[in-house]
Amino acid sequence: MPDTRNDLMTTIVSLCKRRGFIFQSSEIYDGLNSCWDYGPLGVELKRNVKEAWWKAMVTTRRDIVGQDASILMHPRVWEASGHLQGFTDPLVDCRECRSRFRADHLEDTKTCPKCGGELTDARKFNLMFKTFMGPVEDRSATVYLRPETAQGIFVNFLNVQQASRLKLPFGIAQTGKSFRNEITPGNFTYRTREFEQMEMEFFCYPQDDEHWYEYWKNERFNWYIKNGIRNENLRLRDHEKDELAHYAKACVDVEYKFPFGWNELEGIANRTDFDLKKHSEFSGKTLAIFDEESKQHIFPYVIEPAAGADRATLAFLVDAYAVEGEGKNKRTILRFHPALSPIKAAVLPLVKRDGMPEKAEKIYNDILDNGIATFLDINLSIGRRYARQDEAGTPYCITVDSQSMEDDTVTIRRRDNREQFRVNAGSAVEQIRKELKEAGA
Ligand code: GAP
Repeated sequence: MPDTRNDLMTTIVSLCKRRGFIFQSSEIYDGLNSCWDYGPLGVELKRNVKEAWWKAMVTTRRDIVGQDASILMHPRVWEASGHLQGFTDPLVDCRECRSRFRADHLEDTKTCPKCGGELTDARKFNLMFKTFMGPVEDRSATVYLRPETAQGIFVNFLNVQQASRLKLPFGIAQTGKSFRNEITPGNFTYRTREFEQMEMEFFCYPQDDEHWYEYWKNERFNWYIKNGIRNENLRLRDHEKDELAHYAKACVDVEYKFPFGWNELEGIANRTDFDLKKHSEFSGKTLAIFDEESKQHIFPYVIEPAAGADRATLAFLVDAYAVEGEGKNKRTILRFHPALSPIKAAVLPLVKRDGMPEKAEKIYNDILDNGIATFLDINLSIGRRYARQDEAGTPYCITVDSQSMEDDTVTIRRRDNREQFRVNAGSAVEQIRKELKEAGA
């Protein structure tokens, strides 16, 4: 392992580039600060993270449905939600070196941590990105890139509830891009200006809010553990009263022990009836629902687990990273949960002759036809190809060797313990499917 936690982050950033997980955006133009692109392995990993979230939050639940709202919304949405007035960070500038900082991230708000120069007084900086709708760039055409997906759920609340005939308690989930003009983005994909969220608003009877708050706290913590994060690297941290967002009665962060310290992965907030009431007031259309039990209209309370797809992907990457052995035998492994692995099974002919590549290709095609993410690797020594797959986090390798050409069997190698066993070539796909199922993928 690298010597320090900082070295670990540098190593992971360079592994991500070398293996095609994550690249700096617009790199050939010297990059665009805080923007990152996912390469072939990274896009699969992130899609698998989002898929695992969607499966846990929507597909396997009777009480939650999904939606996909647009990024641009009516500007009044952000007045009602409080973002136009209150979605600000305190910004200070250094009078000497002109560096900018978030005042709430500094211990000494008077002195520049870079050059020791004097800092300005803090001023409020709104984090929403502005743009114009249509050809005329004036105030009336101003629209905002959404800073959270949540508001798309609140404004659609009645549409979704009525179309799906949902009764309390129920949830609406959404994944999608959000944008924040962060003052100090950084730590790779941890804090960026464009990122993807995975949010669910769970609507319940006001008197049940504390029950559902506890419920979602546990569910969300356990989701990360189930998908491979080690228990010792995950914790829950309750927000202090003065940390709470303007809409929240309570909030807890799921935190991960990143190489740069414990930091938020996801927030679970009790948003009360704040948003539904505000949108009713600002739009003039009530978002209260008729409750059959009490025979009156009520505004449900909302419990919101709000996660970041990029942050979760980074945490899964960091947690999966392991180095084994010494010197020539040293190898890097990404021990992803098989559900998250970009490639599930690689097919490797031992040598590039004697009919082995053709036989390997047949198995590869079989796996492809079964919709399982696979990769055919023919070049280099077998040891280096295994190492390459370990580094990509591939849980299984299927090898075609000289025995395969005699008795039509192949070996299956498990990434985590390097155990190998033989199966009939014709049942290799079935075996991979069984292994994945047993691993919960
Ligand atoms: N709707 C509530 C909400 O947006 P949040 O805590 O501000 O709450 C939720 O954001 C999650 O979105 C965070 O826990 C984080 O995972 C992700 N997120 C927020 N800002 C981010 C940023 N600048 N870069 C990457 N992810 C971010």
